[in-house]
Amino acid sequence: MTWPMKSIRLRLHARILLTGVAMSLLLTSCATVRQVTYPRDFVYLEKTEITSDMQAMAVEIDRLDRLLADSVTPAIDRQEKVVASLTEIERLSSALGAGPGGGNHALIASNIDGLRDLARTARIAAEGDPPVYYPAGRLAGQCLACHVQR
Ligand code: HEC
Repeated sequence: MTWPMKSIRLRLHARILLTGVAMSLLLTSCATVRQVTYPRDFVYLEKTEITSDMQAMAVEIDRLDRLLADSVTPAIDRQEKVVASLTEIERLSSALGAGPGGGNHALIASNIDGLRDLARTARIAAEGDPPVYYPAGRLAGQCLACHVQR
């Protein structure tokens, strides 16, 4: 079976993906990512829903990224915001993995666990005293499980 590539544009890709672990992999380009794991008989299902949850997640990853780099906000406020952001990412990744469906949904359902689990780990670490943000910084790299640079 062949596995043709399905390109997807990530409008928020540049900031989001050009962070952390992803940085070294993505320095050469920024406009398009490619979905590598679509099989040939791929069927789109509930695309709008996936897209809006996925876009919400992209927005949240961007917010998180800026929070992690924020050295102005008082530490306690920052911790609260980071935890809220991670909670939202955890929620969105659970939502993306839930529910029936095949095609792109089956693909997501079978791959989103890594993101959800890391979001959870990152939230717990960020809730600590003192907070640890290292796992949070690795989250953007998880997008590459399904999205890769063209
Ligand atoms: C489990 C696989 C998977 C993971 C992990 C994943 N995505 Fe997606 N993403 C998809 C699929 C599938 C679509 C829908 C693409 C389609 O049907 O065209 C999508 C769509 C998107 C879109 C919408 C593109 C558009 O058409 O507007 C954005 C933005 C996006 N993803 C960003 C992210 C970000 C940011 C992350 C990391 C937090 C991420 N994705 C992690 C599979 C994944």
